Amino acid sequence: MLTSFPQLARWGRALAALAGLTLVSGCDFNFWRMDGHQSTIVVEGPVAREQLHVFYVTCWVSLVIFVIVASVLAYATFKFKARSESDEHAEPPPQSHGNPLVELGLIGASVLALVVIAVPTLKAIWSTYDVPEAERKEAFVVNGIGYQWWFKFEYPGELVPINDQGAKAPLVTGNELVIPVGRPVRINLRTVDVIHSFWLPKLAGKVDMVPNRANHLYLKAEKAGYYWGQCAEYCGDSHAVMRFRVVALEAKEFAEWLEQQSSLARTVAPRADEANRPVAQFAALRQFKQNEAGITEKFDVNPLEAWRAKQLPEKNEDSRLIAQGRELFKTKACIGCHTVRGHEGMGVTAPDLTHFGSRSTLAAGLIENNTEQVRRWIRDPGAVKPGNKMALAYARVERDGKAVDGIKLTTEEEVALAAYLESLK
Ligand code: CUA
Repeated sequence: MLTSFPQLARWGRALAALAGLTLVSGCDFNFWRMDGHQSTIVVEGPVAREQLHVFYVTCWVSLVIFVIVASVLAYATFKFKARSESDEHAEPPPQSHGNPLVELGLIGASVLALVVIAVPTLKAIWSTYDVPEAERKEAFVVNGIGYQWWFKFEYPGELVPINDQGAKAPLVTGNELVIPVGRPVRINLRTVDVIHSFWLPKLAGKVDMVPNRANHLYLKAEKAGYYWGQCAEYCGDSHAVMRFRVVALEAKEFAEWLEQQSSLARTVAPRADEANRPVAQFAALRQFKQNEAGITEKFDVNPLEAWRAKQLPEKNEDSRLIAQGRELFKTKACIGCHTVRGHEGMGVTAPDLTHFGSRSTLAAGLIENNTEQVRRWIRDPGAVKPGNKMALAYARVERDGKAVDGIKLTTEEEVALAAYLESLK
């Protein structure tokens, strides 16, 4: 029983703390507006809106049932409670076997509640399952493929050169999906290893990527924007940091992006006037705490603008450093897993890096793509995304009874590799 004063005081304090917390978070995190990066309440596309509608219908029906049941319960509790010592020991009232009118009424009400929920639910299942028949022709098709722990996006309709002899393959990007605004997009969902789940709350719901099963999802973005998504099915060590981004662009900008992505990797030739540039001294990379966020405030204010800024080559590129980085990319085993179309790498087990410099994030959408974070990643990938395959190449291993060192990079090598990767626009 909640009657003792200390107990009441404790509850009072807990309530006050809760009220304080909501006030504070209301100011800082827009708690009440519920419009966070992965909000399912503030949506920006017809598919997500239809799903939200079903959620609201279910909520309202449940609320009505809750109010009725709670009121009847409260009424019965107060009306029939024992009011004196003699009430406590009184004979129970005559027992009956229910009231046919009430029982039929309750069955009828339950059926009605289910029908009210079922009609919009079935309608939504039908209409959000795939691109509507009338819009199939203009649908944009993409393949989304889950890997432990990143997303590959493939554009089967966009054949791009993979070398300078004219061989072609579908355009591939990693962790950032760029789509056209206003057009239905059909994403074929696949996985190369375990079950993942593709979840993009502001534009569409969630569909699993299941081995040996051809799943798909359909969505449409209503306006240009930058959207957050993530894997929503436990898939191993770094499941919680397996994220992705979606950038929706107007037709013209989208066409420009496609054209830019279709080219082979950008080559920065060592410039003659830089031959005598003094060798720069590089500051050591600062220490990062475990799980430290890697996104700057500036980036988060307007991520779409931040993404656009990444499409252009950086000012003050150091051409010698970039050439040195390209050489390291070859000799430090990066080429075994990564592809850079037109340059050396042809690996297929890790993200395609042909236009890495034009992405806004790296490490499965986890950290911002800037020199500091790229250095942080290539210095110790296992500290950013535990258990990932790249980290294995850094580990000291036993081979023929001898301990062999994994990849080791000096500060200068780190900077050179980062400069090369950032130059890949
Ligand atoms: Cu992939 Cu969780």
